[in-house]
Amino acid sequence: MESVIGLVNRIQKACTVLGDYGDDNRSLPTLWNSLPTIVVLGGQSSGKSSVLESIVGRDFLPRGSGIVTRRPLVLQLYKTDPGNEEYAQFLHIGDKKFTDFSIVRKEIQDETDRVTGKIKQISPQPINLSIYSPNVVNLTLVDLPGLTKVAVEGQPESIVQEIENMVRSYVEKPNTIILAITPANQDLATSDAVKIAREVDPAGERTFGVLTKLDLMDKGTNALDVLEGRSYRLQHPWVGIVNRSQADINRNVDMISARHKEREFFATSPEYGHLAGRMGSEYLAKLLSKHLESVIKARISGIMSLVNKNTDELESELSHLGRPVAVDSGAQLYTILEFCRAFDRVFKEHLEGGRPGGDR
Ligand code: GDP
Ligand code: NA
Ligand code: MG
Repeated sequence: MESVIGLVNRIQKACTVLGDYGDDNRSLPTLWNSLPTIVVLGGQSSGKSSVLESIVGRDFLPRGSGIVTRRPLVLQLYKTDPGNEEYAQFLHIGDKKFTDFSIVRKEIQDETDRVTGKIKQISPQPINLSIYSPNVVNLTLVDLPGLTKVAVEGQPESIVQEIENMVRSYVEKPNTIILAITPANQDLATSDAVKIAREVDPAGERTFGVLTKLDLMDKGTNALDVLEGRSYRLQHPWVGIVNRSQADINRNVDMISARHKEREFFATSPEYGHLAGRMGSEYLAKLLSKHLESVIKARISGIMSLVNKNTDELESELSHLGRPVAVDSGAQLYTILEFCRAFDRVFKEHLEGGRPGGDR
């Protein structure tokens, strides 16, 4: 049976097709905003892309200096049965299966440029990427541009504020789960991620604190005050991470060895050994998957009533347009309607099957 996360992913895709990604000037009520979503929040070079790649176990994100992520990337992970081939699909491309992840990276870059232009503007229009693999957990994450203090050459000065506004529009929503990323070699008090998370979620109920670059801390210092919740207390436990360093990336250290190295770092660490079972990117992925699933389950009846409302409205819009034949707005409405019907059907199966969750 399909996972509840997979169900919500379908609605999210349908929303994207319809141009509903949470902005306000649209006619249909925004379903997107009602969907629980995990959003990556952090300053530039804090390790956001590295954390996402670790969670996926693949190299697939564009790298470079400057503002690399300039459109939200909605990353939907689907766990498949052992032995199946790993592949990726883009919503804007359709059924084509990408098995070469360097081409996935290139397509993210090209599709970013297609909308934002070569002058490196940012755009709120998301890129939707699905990855099917036996080695992932069911999880959906949104990568956003990193918070920055200065525009780089060729970018308008206003981009700094635009990025902050875009990031805030996501993290302010009560349905957003915040993955707040801070590098351990920086003072927590100066972390942009923590500053914004604290503002929008003062009780720390929907924030997961992630501390990267634990391997880069000065000798004789450690991050136990942060990891054990004394520096900044959140309802969820902090998770420490060791990603690949730039030198590792230059030497083409693969993700398998990187995960291995990370596990070893915690297992053999005199400071963090007692926390080893609750540290690292694999643990983080499982923790987030479980949390996302439980949040979706708790909100599913609310989501369903919105889906049904949308279905009714879509049906009446369709009856005005007549049945669409080509790829036009009518066809897009038809697509979302089909998505919603499928969702309704599968959700009822979940209820009737009596298996809470029904995940693989
Ligand atoms: P982003 O801008 O937040 O997406 O940051 P990236 O993931 O691109 O990381 C920025 C740089 O920091 C890259 O050179 C990474 O290799 C490096 N980096 C990220 N996390 C770690 C870590 O845990 N340890 C070390 N040593 N380097 C890291
Ligand atoms: Na959302
Ligand atoms: Mg990045």
